[in-house]
Amino acid sequence: MTTRATRPLVMGNWKMNLDFVEALHLVQEIGVVLHHQPLEHTDLVVAPPFVDLRTVCSIVESEQIPVGVGAQHVSQFESGAHTGEVSASMLRRLGVTWVIVGHSERRTHYAMSDEVVAATLAAALRAGMNAVLCVGEDEERRRGGEHQSFVGAQLASALSGLSPAARSVVTVAYEPLWAIGTGVSASIEEIAEMGTFVRATLDDLGATGSRILYGGSVNEDNAGDIASVRSIDGFLVGGASLRAASFLAIGRACDDCYAGKR
Ligand code: PGA
Repeated sequence: MTTRATRPLVMGNWKMNLDFVEALHLVQEIGVVLHHQPLEHTDLVVAPPFVDLRTVCSIVESEQIPVGVGAQHVSQFESGAHTGEVSASMLRRLGVTWVIVGHSERRTHYAMSDEVVAATLAAALRAGMNAVLCVGEDEERRRGGEHQSFVGAQLASALSGLSPAARSVVTVAYEPLWAIGTGVSASIEEIAEMGTFVRATLDDLGATGSRILYGGSVNEDNAGDIASVRSIDGFLVGGASLRAASFLAIGRACDDCYAGKR
């Protein structure tokens, strides 16, 4: 295995939780803790709902809170007749520098196909955003032993239209659907196996610089063990990112692991 000096990343996906006032409070709380006890190695990003983004970007800037701000979705289009959608350039203008692309809830509940995921990823990168591409199998595919082939196909579909340079700036989040929001994460063995598989697939696709996150019921109790899996560079966190204490504990678990891993 090649040695990679990759800084860990922990991204909080708030999903459809917290209005702009609640968002403000959570980010301020995160800021207060980080100003007293900064993380040394780990990058933090929060991904609030669209309507919170302006507030969150303003407070992050004015209080110099060391977190990036991300959106949970973005349109594949630049502008025009796309009711309900938001473009990458609109997000950039607000100071949003990260975006989640192809989360399983978008793929499943909003019919986001592999083609749309690929087009969305390309649009985000064209706008100069950092993208977190989500991949992962459902329970049926896992039971049928198709998890690697399914995730491999998702990766190839999303990345193959991009230039080699663009591929390496994509962060990949492996999130098995059966572990999301269930309170039970995948096992260390399952995560290690898929982390290694995703890394090998990314190497084949020329995306050698990509970070790999794990997502699915990550919390402050399991983060340390999962963070020590060699192929995993951080987390995409849902439920546990809604409280400053658990989100930051997960960040700290990555920080603590970083030195030992590299
Ligand atoms: P969870 O969600 O941490 O609540 O399981 C993860 C995700 O959907 O990104």
